[in-house]
Amino acid sequence: MTGPKVNTFLSLFIFGTFCMPLVAFLTYASSVQVGAQSGIQECKYQFAWNRWNCPESTLQLSTQKGLRSATRETSFVHAISAAGVMYTLTKNCSMGDFDNCGCDDSRIGQTGGRGWIWGGCSDNAAFGEKISKQFVDALEDGHDSRAAVNLHNNEAGRLAVKATMRKACKCHGVSGSCSIQTCWMQLADFREVGNYLKAKHEHAKKLEMDKKPARAGNSADNKGAIAHAFRSIARTELIYLEDSPDYCVKNQSIGFQGTEGRECLKGDKNMSQWERKSCRRLCYECGLRVVEKRIEVVSSCNCKFHWCCTVKCDKCTQVVTKYYCAGKETDRVQITRSL
Ligand SMILES: *[C@@H]1O[C@H](CO)[C@@H](O)[C@H](O)[C@H]1NC(C)=O
Ligand SMILES: *[C@@H]1O[C@H](CO)[C@@H](O)[C@H](O)[C@H]1NC(C)=O
Ligand SMILES: *[C@@H]1O[C@H](CO)[C@@H](O)[C@H](O)[C@H]1NC(C)=O
Repeated sequence: MTGPKVNTFLSLFIFGTFCMPLVAFLTYASSVQVGAQSGIQECKYQFAWNRWNCPESTLQLSTQKGLRSATRETSFVHAISAAGVMYTLTKNCSMGDFDNCGCDDSRIGQTGGRGWIWGGCSDNAAFGEKISKQFVDALEDGHDSRAAVNLHNNEAGRLAVKATMRKACKCHGVSGSCSIQTCWMQLADFREVGNYLKAKHEHAKKLEMDKKPARAGNSADNKGAIAHAFRSIARTELIYLEDSPDYCVKNQSIGFQGTEGRECLKGDKNMSQWERKSCRRLCYECGLRVVEKRIEVVSSCNCKFHWCCTVKCDKCTQVVTKYYCAGKETDRVQITRSL
């Protein structure tokens, strides 16, 4: 799945870390890559039925200097990447992958509430947070509003990992009477972090900067203006600077293909409201048609177990119907050709 474009994107995480001691860098670099990658996978899942679907081409451009925009969508990319890195490092730590870190035992033995005390292995979120900051935030070397927005969204991503943590408990006491429990804090599934941040994306706020012409070179003024713009924004909220472009259409400058050719969903009763409206959102509302394609899917079936120890299967062909957005002209061209 790892295309060359994603690698370019990820390598920027590595570039951004030259100020870190080499030993620390080598210890964490591969986990940081795995974490950033899982962030991008989650982005693709969360936006599968949005017009903008987290394509790698837009991720690459969003990290190139000078071309970067700070839209609602890039705010999500920043947050989920920072969250993914923090999440993986925290998990690694609990698994004992690193010598210098372990479970968060700061509260062990203390009473947490009625009938329970802190115990077990609480995930060490503070560790993951610290290393994620060192790697991911190091990519922002500017001091302008764009850098401030990106750093804010990275932070919001890391806070999402903390906000979704859950208390887990184990019963103790005479023959499992559960008269006393020990509890610890553990990370939620990363999917929950994704869901949480997707909701934040929907309610993202636009940062209104003062329109006063900035006096060139006066960075004190600039800092003041940025601080002023941020004063009413909670650390947990995603923010952006520029309105999103029209994602219906192809946009070369951000490397986006538009929705023509995208699959959408129809028919299944089991679908969420969001999925059920995907053809309308991706095709009709973008001025496109929906075309039906019948696709043969070959899969294993009638599998039998043979002693010992093989499984033999038949190959079954099934025809499934899929739906895609199509432009009006494309078809005419095809018909002309086939005549
Ligand atoms: C950290 O966890 C990830 C995902 O589970 C794994 O691929 C990686 O190898 C781990 N890193 C280390 C240093 O053990
Ligand atoms: C392409 O995206 C850029 C950056 O968001 C935007 O300024 C421009 O208007 C878009 N172009 C089209 C054709 O939508
Ligand atoms: C229907 O929905 C349930 C729960 O959301 C899911 O587990 C199941 O796989 C779905 N079935 C189909 C055919 O998509």
